[in-house]
Amino acid sequence: MIIHPVIKGQVAKSCHPVGCGQAVAEQIAYVSRAPQIAKGPRKVLVLGASSGFGLASRISLAFGGARADTIGVAFERGPSDKGVGSAGWYNLIHFSHMARKEGLIARNFVGDAFAPDMRAKVADYIRNEFGGSVDLVVYSLATGARPDPETGELVRSTIKPIGTATRGYTINLEKDFLEEQCLEPATDQEIKDTVKVMGGEDWQSWISFLKGEGLLAEGFETLAFSYIGPERTYDIYHHGTLGRAKADLHQTADRIDAALKAQKGQAHVVVCKALVTKASVFIPGLSPYLLALFRVMKEMGLHEGCIEQMQRLYADTLYRADGTIPVDAERLVRIDDREQRADVQEKVAALLDKMTPETFRSIGDYEGYKGDFMKLNGFGLESVDYEADVDLDRYRME
Ligand code: NAI
Ligand code: NA
Repeated sequence: MIIHPVIKGQVAKSCHPVGCGQAVAEQIAYVSRAPQIAKGPRKVLVLGASSGFGLASRISLAFGGARADTIGVAFERGPSDKGVGSAGWYNLIHFSHMARKEGLIARNFVGDAFAPDMRAKVADYIRNEFGGSVDLVVYSLATGARPDPETGELVRSTIKPIGTATRGYTINLEKDFLEEQCLEPATDQEIKDTVKVMGGEDWQSWISFLKGEGLLAEGFETLAFSYIGPERTYDIYHHGTLGRAKADLHQTADRIDAALKAQKGQAHVVVCKALVTKASVFIPGLSPYLLALFRVMKEMGLHEGCIEQMQRLYADTLYRADGTIPVDAERLVRIDDREQRADVQEKVAALLDKMTPETFRSIGDYEGYKGDFMKLNGFGLESVDYEADVDLDRYRME
């Protein structure tokens, strides 16, 4: 079949399997020539491994110097009579194919990471086929819903301010315009639910479970990702429902860290730069900021994507030759340092003051933003012939 992009609002309804493979190959090529990870982990579990920071972590740890064997867990759809499936499905297949060609183990588990039977399956695999333990667990899930572990009822997260309403623009990627939205403040229940879905509870329960099963190696590391951003985005993020969930994640890191002391283990939260991913395009009010940020950081030669961020994280920060991990006063690992530079934020602020639904395409880097979104779904890659027939039967999850 010939596959064309289909976008509805902020959601891609199709993806290109060949393009997804090419995008994974580009990331592998990048980490292969970047400064290498000196002394990294050998056995890694990535939760949320099919896109964004999780996929980039897996690529970096396998191909960026550590030559890690990896297990990837993700929630994705394969091809069916309903469509081609999701980009993450093809990312998993391409990644494992290329890793195995290099002689690395790359095992995928597709399904719900919140479900106890997924935990059991992954634990059995680690015990029986993965050498008996892991050195690193990367927690990179991003989702709008999670079944309550007690009741089984679906809990949904919301992205809203806390306390007072706020207005902001969201990008409509289908029709290329900015829509103004008024965001009412979250209710207490919505705050609680967002913390349940995007906070630290599930991360902690994965680690406690694996620890209880005796599957964490001495000197074990675990990390999860967070965002803080500059003050002008606080209303919608840092001081909103998502920020509340992140605060919970930060506290969870300290709790896990304490519980790992006996085996010389550590848990960290890594604060990343704002980027276009399947998850982040949903954050209302953040898009104009991203458009301005991309323009400024590209002009200043400071721009990074997921893969640049992750390779820098593992090579320069987490697995440095001297064994130390630099953290801030709150014990957070900061790789948002370039985004947060005063000179960057000054220029971003100046652009944002001029950004309106009429000017956003010339003031901000809309081309770059939309290009990244298309690329997440395998479209817009130069080396791919989009008029060629794609044989979906070639893509099998192993
Ligand atoms: P993403 O949407 O690219 O990746 C999410 C991953 O989670 C995918 O692999 C997906 O399959 C998996 N997933 C979702 N629900 C699942 C489930 N029930 N079971 C198993 N797997 C499931 O998201 P992204 O942006 O990489 O987000 C990862 C983390 O990074 C999040 O904590 C996010 O808040 C954080 N972050 C993101 C930033 C951004 O700008 N995108 C900036 C800073 C932090
Ligand atoms: Na991810």
